[in-house]
Parts: sequence; C-alpha cells; structure tokens
Amino acid sequence: MIETVTGLADLRKRVSQWKREGLRVGFVPTMGNLHAGHFSLVALARRHADRVVASVFVNPTQFGPDEDFARYPRTPEDDAAGLEAAGCDLMWMPSVDTMYPFGADNAVRMRVPGITDVLEGAHRPGHFDGVVTVVSRLFNQVQPDAAAFGRKDYQQLAVIRYFVRDLAFPVELLPADIVRESDGLAMSSRNQYLAPDERAAAPTIHRTLLAMREAVQAGTSCAEVEAQAVAMLEAAGFAVDYAAVRDRQLATPAGDTGELVALVAARLGRTRLIDNLEFIR
Ligand code: PAJ
Repeated sequence: MIETVTGLADLRKRVSQWKREGLRVGFVPTMGNLHAGHFSLVALARRHADRVVASVFVNPTQFGPDEDFARYPRTPEDDAAGLEAAGCDLMWMPSVDTMYPFGADNAVRMRVPGITDVLEGAHRPGHFDGVVTVVSRLFNQVQPDAAAFGRKDYQQLAVIRYFVRDLAFPVELLPADIVRESDGLAMSSRNQYLAPDERAAAPTIHRTLLAMREAVQAGTSCAEVEAQAVAMLEAAGFAVDYAAVRDRQLATPAGDTGELVALVAARLGRTRLIDNLEFIR
C-alpha cells in the first residue's frame, strides 16, 4: 500500500531512513487530480531513483484572484490509488498550514527575474512566484535527489531550471515529454472543465502547433506564423492569450536556424489551456 503522509515530521523520518540506507529519492510535485501525464513523471522518476515521493498540494499562492483555486478538482483517494499503481512509494499531502506555517499571505516569497516577465508570466502575474515559492518548500521538505517536471509546462520548467541553478539546489531535474490524448489534446486536469462542444474544439491547439512548426520550417516569418495561429484558434472558438514562436530561452528567435518552441495559451469559455511544441528550424 502506498503511504500517505500529511505531517512534516513523518515525511522527514521516512525520507531520512531511505537516505541512511543509501537509497536515491526521486520526487514528482503535483496539484493532484492525477492523469497519465503525471503518472509518466512517476515512471521517469522511478527510472532515476530507488524510491519515489509524489506531492499532492493545490498551491494557493500560484493562483490569481480570479482563477480556479476553489474549484480546482481534488481527488485524493483516486490519486493515491493511481500513484500506487504507477510505482510511487509515498504520497506527500501537506495542508495549507503545514506548507505555509505563517499563512499563505505571510510566506517568504521567491521570484525568478526575467524569464517570468513573458508569456504565462505576463498573463498570470505572480503565478511563477507562487510556483517557485512552493517548489522551494517542497524541495526542502522532501530533500529529493532528482525531481520530474513535464515539458507540458514549458516555461515552468525553464523557471525551475533557473532557480535550481541560481540557488544551488542539489536536485537533478528530469524533464518529461508531453502525454496527449489520442486526438492530440495535451492531458490536463483542466480538460474536465470542458463542455462536450469545447472538448471537441480543444485538439485545435495541437493542430495549430503542428501548423506553426510546418510554416516556420517552410520559411514563413515568425510574426506571420503567429498571426495565422491566432486566426486558426479564433476560428475554432478560442480566445487567444498568445500564440508564439520563441527560442528555447523564450526570446524572439534570432537567425534563420536553431532550436525553437511554439507555445499557445488559449481559452474556451472559462477554461484556459496551454500547450507547446519543440522543434528545429
Ligand atoms: P500540475 O499541473 O499538477 O502538474 C504537475 C506536473 O505534471 C508538472 O511538472 C506538469 O508539467 C506535469 N504534467 C501535467 N500534464 C502533463 C502532460 N500532459 N504531459 C506531461 N507532463 C504533464 O505543475 C504543477 O502541477 C504545479 O505548478 C507544481 C509544479 C506542482 C507546483 O505547485
């Protein structure tokens, strides 16, 4: 049976026992409502560690005031069963008080400069501050040797790479490929918000990313590609936050060749979806 731990002392006891035994600890931070994308991170961590800890914590500090913190799906029993089947050893499920002993509003806040100013950071002010604020705590609590993050959240992974290096966290990062539904829609806990007609339109995001790659590789300018992508998404009923072609550091691409990434954030009704596609030009 997977062990579910809610107290910090119990977590530390378990992890320090493993470390005394010389075992390597892998970690998968999540907000729960787990799906095959999350479980692929557990499998990846398994391949790089002897024991795997997954956290389930819906982090209030990374949600904006008008976002879906209150209605974010919470399914701890299903999560525990899924984690056990995926080969996870321990589920870390702290309360808000355990995570933020002085309260979420009085927490020591972390901020990564520069890369958080664009794209997701520009559309969700404070979001990445909340992400690094909680991930630094999770790393201090779990003390993992390695931690898995999905490429689905491309900019989040870039932000975490930056802060792990800048703060010299002794954690090896394990990037995991995007897991998709058979129609191309990237798996996400937010997909279940979609009404049937919205769910039918949602794979247009992946199709748009493929079209963006094709157009860039055919020599179309990035600005033109972005405009075409917005039109394609709007025709399918999306309100578009951004459709962008960037270099892998999320800067405007310079030169005619290189490693690029196409990124989209778009809303269907109240549901906001993000996806991306890495490619070479
Ligand atoms: P959450 O959205 O639950 O995602 C947890 C991890 O699963 C992230 O690293 C995310 O990139 C990865 N993931 C989600 N869907 C995926 C998919 N379809 N394919 C591959 N990986 C996928 O991201 C967060 O939680 C939070 O911001 C967190 C890092 C836990 C901090 O609160």
